[in-house]
Amino acid sequence: MHLLITGGAGFIGSHLCEKALEYGHRVTVVDNLSQGLRENIPEGARFVYGDILQPEMWLNKIGPVDIVIHLAAQISVPASEVDPLTDLRLNLEGTLRMLMAAQALGATQFRTASSAAVYGDVPHLPLREDGPVHPIAFYGWSKYTAEQYVFHFAKLHGLDAVVFRLANVYGPRQRTQGEGGVVAVFCEAMAQNRVLEIHGDGQQTRDFIYVEDVARAFLHRLENPGPKTVYNVSTETRTSVYNLFLALAKVAGKPQDGYRLAPVRLGDIHDSVLSQEKAKAWGFVPKTSLEDGLALTWQYFLNQELKP
Ligand SMILES: NC(=O)c1ccc[n+]([C@@H]2O[C@H](COP(=O)([O-])OP(=O)(O)OC[C@H]3O[C@@H](n4cnc5c(N)ncnc54)[C@H](O)[C@@H]3O)[C@@H](O)[C@H]2O)c1
Repeated sequence: MHLLITGGAGFIGSHLCEKALEYGHRVTVVDNLSQGLRENIPEGARFVYGDILQPEMWLNKIGPVDIVIHLAAQISVPASEVDPLTDLRLNLEGTLRMLMAAQALGATQFRTASSAAVYGDVPHLPLREDGPVHPIAFYGWSKYTAEQYVFHFAKLHGLDAVVFRLANVYGPRQRTQGEGGVVAVFCEAMAQNRVLEIHGDGQQTRDFIYVEDVARAFLHRLENPGPKTVYNVSTETRTSVYNLFLALAKVAGKPQDGYRLAPVRLGDIHDSVLSQEKAKAWGFVPKTSLEDGLALTWQYFLNQELKP
């Protein structure tokens, strides 16, 4: 199948490209390289430089596609609070434009990344797709509203659409800012032998999922599309930030007291864990343990540091 992947030069997108090629798909990437890197795009994938807000500039270079996987976005929660208009344009208008692009290119399927941020601070854990949503930042609202546009557009135009609400994704090539970047931030600090900062008391919990598992979720059942619906992509495992630090220190052979406490970050929710029930029923389960994922991520950051 021919896949168009927006944001394929980014963290998750580049892993998705690799997996898609491995599965035997043809891959075209559209990215404006505002955050991603050309070198992240694997050999074998075609790259078309382009902005999701200006598809008229690149659409005629793509050719017919079967599936659009839309990942390009504004991904920073704090940036969405400072500049909600840019967040709205990229995450909502950008998604609508990519839905229209999918239709113009003859795609029958559309998949996109939403976020655990749509849930906000909901007290009932694990967070379920059919439970309440209460975003606490513009980013969560733009992602949630984009979900509604996807399903409405899909219904109107007969597109098979799936939305994935991603938990905290980590792995090689993640940048040290942005959503879910705590593993990358810790790895970079350890690789540079710096004392790292744990915000709050470190007892806040997150649901960490390895990037390759997320890539597999996007490619799951492409041959046999399912209902137009939303799935959490998670491990349903709560790991405190302090325990994450300890696990990483062990993997990296670093001292267990190599951190200092820093003030709680504004807008940070305390606990987040996403139910796996619906994704499991659909046949998707992540494969990578936290220990294995951290070892692979640490190796990547160490190699980056050792590069001449
Ligand atoms: N990383 C996480 O933990 C996480 C969690 C939940 C959801 N998500 C979602 O997953 C998706 C991918 O996130 P990521 O972590 O890989 O981010 P990323 O910033 O690494 O990748 C995004 C890519 O989109 C490109 N891009 C940005 N604006 C563009 C535009 N106007 N036109 C074309 N390309 C543009 C960037 O250059 C970059 O390559 C996003 O939709 C994000 O909201 C990520």
